[in-house]
Amino acid sequence: MSTRHESAHLHVSGQALYADDIPLPANTLHAAFGLSSIAHGRIRALDLTPVRESPGVVAIAAAADVPGENNYGSAVHDDPIFAPDLVQYAGQPLFAVAADSYTAARKAARRARVEYEPLPAILDIRAALAAQITVLPTQRLTRGRPHEALAEAPHRMQGTVHIGGQDHFYLEGQISIAVPQEDGAMLVHSSTQHPSEVQQIVAHALGKRANQVTVQCRRMGGGFGGKETQPALIAAAAAVLAHKTGRPVKLRLDRDTDMLMTGKRHDFLADYTVGFDERGRILALTVMLASRCGYSADLSGPVNDRAMMHIDNAYFLENVDIVSHRCKTHTVSNTAFRGFGGPQGMMVIEQIVDSIARALGMDPLEVRRRNFYGIDDRNVTHYGQTVEHNLIHTIVDRLAESSHYRERRRQVQEWNDTHRHVRRGLALTPVKFGISFTATMFNQAGALIHVYTDGTVLLNHGGTEMGQGLFTKVAQVVATEFGLPLTAVRVSATDTSKVPNTSASAASASADLNGKAAQAAAETIRGRLVQFACETFGVAAPAVIFRDGKVFIGERHLPFADLVMQAYRARVSLSATGYYRTPKIEYDKTTLRGRPFFYFAYGAALSEVAVDTLTGETQLLRVDILHDAGRSLNPAIDLGQVEGGFLQGVGWLTSEELWWNAKGELQTHAPSTYKIPTARDWPPHAQVKLLDERPNGEETIYRSKAVGEPPLMLAISVFLAIRDAIASCGPPGVQPDLTAPATPEAVLRSLASVRAETAPQAAAGVRVEADV
Ligand code: MTE
Ligand code: MOS
Repeated sequence: MSTRHESAHLHVSGQALYADDIPLPANTLHAAFGLSSIAHGRIRALDLTPVRESPGVVAIAAAADVPGENNYGSAVHDDPIFAPDLVQYAGQPLFAVAADSYTAARKAARRARVEYEPLPAILDIRAALAAQITVLPTQRLTRGRPHEALAEAPHRMQGTVHIGGQDHFYLEGQISIAVPQEDGAMLVHSSTQHPSEVQQIVAHALGKRANQVTVQCRRMGGGFGGKETQPALIAAAAAVLAHKTGRPVKLRLDRDTDMLMTGKRHDFLADYTVGFDERGRILALTVMLASRCGYSADLSGPVNDRAMMHIDNAYFLENVDIVSHRCKTHTVSNTAFRGFGGPQGMMVIEQIVDSIARALGMDPLEVRRRNFYGIDDRNVTHYGQTVEHNLIHTIVDRLAESSHYRERRRQVQEWNDTHRHVRRGLALTPVKFGISFTATMFNQAGALIHVYTDGTVLLNHGGTEMGQGLFTKVAQVVATEFGLPLTAVRVSATDTSKVPNTSASAASASADLNGKAAQAAAETIRGRLVQFACETFGVAAPAVIFRDGKVFIGERHLPFADLVMQAYRARVSLSATGYYRTPKIEYDKTTLRGRPFFYFAYGAALSEVAVDTLTGETQLLRVDILHDAGRSLNPAIDLGQVEGGFLQGVGWLTSEELWWNAKGELQTHAPSTYKIPTARDWPPHAQVKLLDERPNGEETIYRSKAVGEPPLMLAISVFLAIRDAIASCGPPGVQPDLTAPATPEAVLRSLASVRAETAPQAAAGVRVEADV
């Protein structure tokens, strides 16, 4: 059911409490980080005297001041909180300083005198590949006879795909407040998608046990994956200073520091060779995937695994060989970002399919359809999971019809025949995205529900709210289970002392997991109330129905609150925990095979763009989207996710460019140089719809589907529409070599190479050969 976001009224009136708004105890200190100015080198001397003498300074913490483990690495312990002696990226924290004001701390942090012994820095993927340095071992995923099938294919094509990174640009930057409690305990307010991990890491850093650290988060002003592992660093530094001074410490990064210090989406490079037949069907594919992981592992393992597992997108790849290099560079350690490697994998195959169509002079949509997973055959992924309940044909057929694909294709052609400078392009791309954490262990959740004697409900669960509407959805589930209006259910801040050992709110699975856990808790309490009603009123259980704020018991009915009060008087427990773990999934991380995903979410988008060939500027003119949310828990919120995810993807692929100089210093660390889309980039014509009459084929909460990440990948249609417009400037069959993001500069470069083309099929990025 569509309802507004549970905090909408607070968001728009400025009353929603974010971490920065939490009233502080009077003795609170403010902290700032001192950062490395070089990308790679040894610290010869770190003189903090000028920092200590700076006005207002109360304490400093560097590597030696961490009482426990000086590390915030989650999977692999290779992320120092404060660089001990080796510096591995420009912007790496060396120390943190606490002062009596925010400004005093920031000023002091800049006064350190650091002497470095510089070492050679590896800054990009090609350099790392040449030097063969990785953060994790190379992985390989193979099926069929890729090399033989390639040799036998009637057509072969080689190419390279360049995919840029992305800064999360959450509106609320990273922030933590550490408040010492009695007897050595620590309370941490953190803007985090993963309170339990922050709890563990703070405990390790302080040399404490988990039961001494409590982490709370009411909401984030956006996370997008950037608050999955990164908040632990901020929280640990604040906690170390709080521990050292015995005073509360607030550590909030300003935008520039946030962008310099924290991990981003991995940029990728893919060299591929594809073999196909004259109908455009892919017969064999070999891909070398390489990503810039930065200096440490962080989540690069699972991110790159997901890229490998989404290189099929919606297409059956019978013979495939993917090699995935997790390149180490002396840049910030890259991390989770909406789609978690999936978008990068899909970009590779979508460009390949687009290039096959251009090489054969066919409509790209036709080539896509020929390669889709079948319903009953050609339906096993390259990692061994059978694609069940396949909706891609339905979605693409319906979208092609409702968006008038054929006619629009003709109109674009006509426009381009009659307009020289402003060209148009069109692309319709599908999305199939696997739902579940690939690490099976994380697919579990817990909830805690209290029913008070006045009939109101307080809900707590392990998920976190970052604007995606999770709290609203889980509250809806609980209200539904008790037959109560949504106003009777209040959601409280995520708190490690209420629901323990939680997974990150990530992988789009939070409503699936926490919704089910909350349902289980509600069922427990409802079961007790039913039993009480049966005993009291002498009816059988089916005669007790919870609806419209009332309980119907046989012939009579009474307000929910009345039954609750009676149950309380009869000493019935009105509080319960609930637990859920995703069924059916199993996955072997070493062989990369199994059923990692409970199900797939689908979608498709048709985008039409205009490209100004004189300036390289692009404009999204129209988008048509049909997206699968199963039986949506809240269509209003889900549509918001689809629109927001799509536009965030448009930013990734068109305007958001991360640029490091030759010394490895990030130059794009503020909105002045880093361009995210704004409301004005939303296309003048947009048709966004949910395919909501199709319940999830798997038994998820009310048969809904996860919706957080998949829509981002709908934006690949915009990138390929731009490529389509550029291609119209060259001879038939030209393969524009367009790098992502398609900034005006990238578009102009691509146009120049396309215009230089005389012979078809010989552009820089793609080489085609045909054995006839
Ligand atoms: N939507 C908003 N408004 N803000 C966010 O930070 N994060 C995205 C997505 N949608 C995000 C968002 C990411 S990366 C994920 S994994 C999911 O929301 C997480 O929430 P869910 O599991 O409840 O979908
Ligand atoms: Mo989302 S990248 O899984 O936090």
